[in-house]
Amino acid sequence: MSADDPGAAARAEAVAVAAERRWAIIVIAIIGLLIGMMIVTGLHWAAMPPSRVETVDVRTLHIKGEFVERNLGTTLEPDGRVLVRLIAQQYSFVPQCIVVPENMPVTFRGTSTDAIHGFIVGKSNANSMLVPGFVATFTTTFPKAGEHLMPCHEYCGTGHEAMWARVKVISQPEFLQRIRTESRLSCVQS
Ligand code: CUA
Repeated sequence: MSADDPGAAARAEAVAVAAERRWAIIVIAIIGLLIGMMIVTGLHWAAMPPSRVETVDVRTLHIKGEFVERNLGTTLEPDGRVLVRLIAQQYSFVPQCIVVPENMPVTFRGTSTDAIHGFIVGKSNANSMLVPGFVATFTTTFPKAGEHLMPCHEYCGTGHEAMWARVKVISQPEFLQRIRTESRLSCVQS
């Protein structure tokens, strides 16, 4: 009987200890691999910033360059692109109401004057962060005419909940006709 055999018990224990050690080695190897991956990817991202990073001087934002007030809003560029320039600040967007055409690619360029802000346009995929010192840019298309809310979605201070703008998507013919006469569109009531 093995129960009466002290040699068998010792052998069984040796087998169990060996199995436990194997598992311990496997678990340590997995943890080591994960930590190694974190270190490698972390260093990689730190050494190589995302491509197409554009910077802008926050101190002169209002005075000169692309984001002066008369430049904000929607334009039709000479190359045919629709371009929306906007600024986020505590606690509003400029312009407060943005006009874009339906079914045409629209490129947004935006930045922030103070804290980190962000915006999303209704249920569309227009969604970006606005970081002081950097220009955020993306291109999207709005398939349907209508009006969307554009709230700030990064907590930026006590006025965060009240920070939002509106986006009006209008038909292509109406947009093209208006942009011919106004050159820079917004729907801010003046
Ligand atoms: Cu701006 Cu939240």
